[in-house]
Parts: sequence; C-alpha cells; structure tokens
Amino acid sequence: MDYHLRCIECGRKFYDDSLYTCPSCSGLLEVVVDVSNADFRLNGEEVRVWKYYSLLPVKIKPVTLQEGGTPLYEIRSSKKTELYVKHEGLNPSGSFKDRGMTVGISKAVELGKSMVACASTGNTSASMSMYSARAGLKAYVFLPSGKVALGKLAQAMMHGAKVIAVKGNFDTALKIVREICARRGIYLMNSVNPFRLEGQKTIAFEIVDQLGHCPEAIYVPVGNAGNISAIFKGFSELKEAGYTDSIPKMIGVQAEGANPIFRAFMEGKDSIIPVDNPETIATAIRIGSPVNARKALKAIYTSGGKVIQVSDDEIVKAQKLLARQGIGVEPASASSFAGFLKDDEEFESAVCIATGNLLKDPEEAVRVSEKPVEIDPDVELIEKLL
Ligand code: F0G
Repeated sequence: MDYHLRCIECGRKFYDDSLYTCPSCSGLLEVVVDVSNADFRLNGEEVRVWKYYSLLPVKIKPVTLQEGGTPLYEIRSSKKTELYVKHEGLNPSGSFKDRGMTVGISKAVELGKSMVACASTGNTSASMSMYSARAGLKAYVFLPSGKVALGKLAQAMMHGAKVIAVKGNFDTALKIVREICARRGIYLMNSVNPFRLEGQKTIAFEIVDQLGHCPEAIYVPVGNAGNISAIFKGFSELKEAGYTDSIPKMIGVQAEGANPIFRAFMEGKDSIIPVDNPETIATAIRIGSPVNARKALKAIYTSGGKVIQVSDDEIVKAQKLLARQGIGVEPASASSFAGFLKDDEEFESAVCIATGNLLKDPEEAVRVSEKPVEIDPDVELIEKLL
C-alpha cells in the first residue's frame, strides 16, 4: 500500500505516520493513497470495511470487530427521490465511528502505542473504548460533563476506559485532550487523526458496492465535520480509480443551535466562526468549533453540495418517521433525513447516512414518545385500550 500524508493548507508531504497535524503550519493532514492499488470489485458481495484493504493505509493485520457492511434500506418519503438510508447504527458499537476506529486503533498498534485518548460527545468514546479493549490498549476518554447520552457513557465505562467528565462542552474537552496527548505521548483518536477518516471513507465504497451506482446526493449529519470529509474522499477515490464517473453532492445537515458550518456556507466562506454555546437535543453534534470545518467545506463546495440546518423539532419528527419504518436511530442520526425532508431540491436518488443507533440515547426516545399505559391486570379493562 503506497501512501503519504499531505497538509491540506501548505501542501507539504510527510512520511511519518505518527503526525496528525502539519509540523510547519499546523494545518490538518490527509492521507494520499495510490488508487492504482485498488484490487476489489464493487459487486455487492462480502461488503465490510476490510474488503477495501488495498485502499486503507494499514501495514499490519488489523484490529477488527467486523465493522461495516451495514444495511442500505430503501425508504418511503413524501418526495419523488429514490431514497435510501445507510444504517450505521448497526455497527459493533452502534455507530459509524467503528469504521474509523478499526483503522485508527490498528495504526496505534502499528506505531507501538500503548495509550489512546479522545474527546467525545459519546460515540467516539464508546467505539474507542471497545476497540482499545480488543487491542489491549489503555483508553482515556474526555466527555462534556452531563451532556453525553446514557448508552454511550455505559459503553465507555463497561469496556474499561478511564472516563473523565470535563466541566465544559465538547470543544473545550477536545482542546484539553489535544494538549494532554502532546504532553504525555498518548495517541489521539479524534478525527484530527487522518487515519481515522480513512476508515470512514468506506461508507462511500459500500454505498456504490451495495447500490451498484453512485447516488446523486448524500445527506450527512455534521458535528466535528470529519465524516462528511471522509465520505467525500471515498467517492473521490472511487472516481479517480475509475469505479464511478461521478461524485454525489455532499449535503451537510446541522442542528440550528450548533450550526457554524451552515453559517459559513451561507456566507460563501471556506472557514468558520465558532458558535460559543452550542445547544441541541442531538447531543452527538452539539459542537461549536468543528476541527474539520475546512476539509468539510471544501468537500461541500467541490461536490456542488450545500448545508441545511434543522430545528430540534424537525429532528425528532424525522427520528419518529424513520422509527415507524423500522429504522431506529438516535437524534443526530435523524438530522440527515430531516435535512432531506426540508430540502426543496429533488434528486433521482439519494442516501441519508443514519450515523448512530436508537439505543444510544434511550432517555430522549422515552421523553419524546407516548408513555406506556399503566393498568391493573384485568383482561376486559385492557381490551378496551386496544
Ligand atoms: N452523528 C453521530 C451519531 C455522531 O456521534 C457524530 C459525531 C456525528 C453524527 C457527526 O460526525 O463529527 O464527523 O461530523 N460524534 C463525535 C463523537 C463528535 O464524539 O462521538 P462528525
């Protein structure tokens, strides 16, 4: 596998895998892979992350929990578009993060690291804890205190991570973990780490593999903005390698109360102004200063996409509509479908990425649903309720 790292700001190339930002200008790095190495067939068979090993920058036998290969469900909506939902909530830890983590943790092992860390709104920490446990690494997770959904917190704790609840929001926790990693030689697993995003690009590979063609548009929930960048990179590599001749429009969806990328897009800018106190029911994307904003905006502009913002009410409505078609997702995940419903544009075909499982946030699900009826164990009385 031939690859190198390149700074997205100054263009300098690097061959040291332990870097995640540019030593000269501090810009984000991306992995440039040689797509002529691609040796898989997009025939819908054996779909999972490591089917695409030939385009993944890992030199060892990967640490895997058999992630990927998530279903692509066709769903009904009020629009004419042929619409699919890619249910990433059916990955081992219940979110798309497992794709990034199988690659990131494999890289940590390859580099001989014994400790990994992340800041997280919950899913990254759940996934990292699980994969670290699998690999025998010590995991440290930094969470915004009181703002992480219960299912995610339970996972991090049960898989044996050291859980640190920082009094502050995600953006503060990320700033702190970056400093601690630099001071203590701990390997950082947030999406500043370009290897994690390499794993996530397999969402694009799988969509074309399962659908047999490239859809016209992809709707993606945007928080720290790594995933939309990664999916765009995946489609770009498929095109470069000759598997497809088009790239879908990348449509980012943000919550109204945490919308720095939406604001930048509306003003035609290629960088953001942070939102100071982000707030939304979709705690997974409650982020005011997304680190991958510049990568994401580039992906959105280059693909001819856009950014849509949705309210918490629209998110809950979309979550319920999906649930009534048998697709259980957490609030942030439903924002992609909410964005699709809000978009006036019609496409021939589109895919909404449902990023995390309903069980991640059981408290929200209970709060917004009809309450159970409590009743005496009397058959006739109960029959009247049916
Ligand atoms: N959906 C879910 C369920 C998420 O957990 C996240 C991010 C996103 C969407 C947004 O993806 O950050 O790549 O734009 N969760 C991170 C975490 C921040 O810590 O688990 P993004």
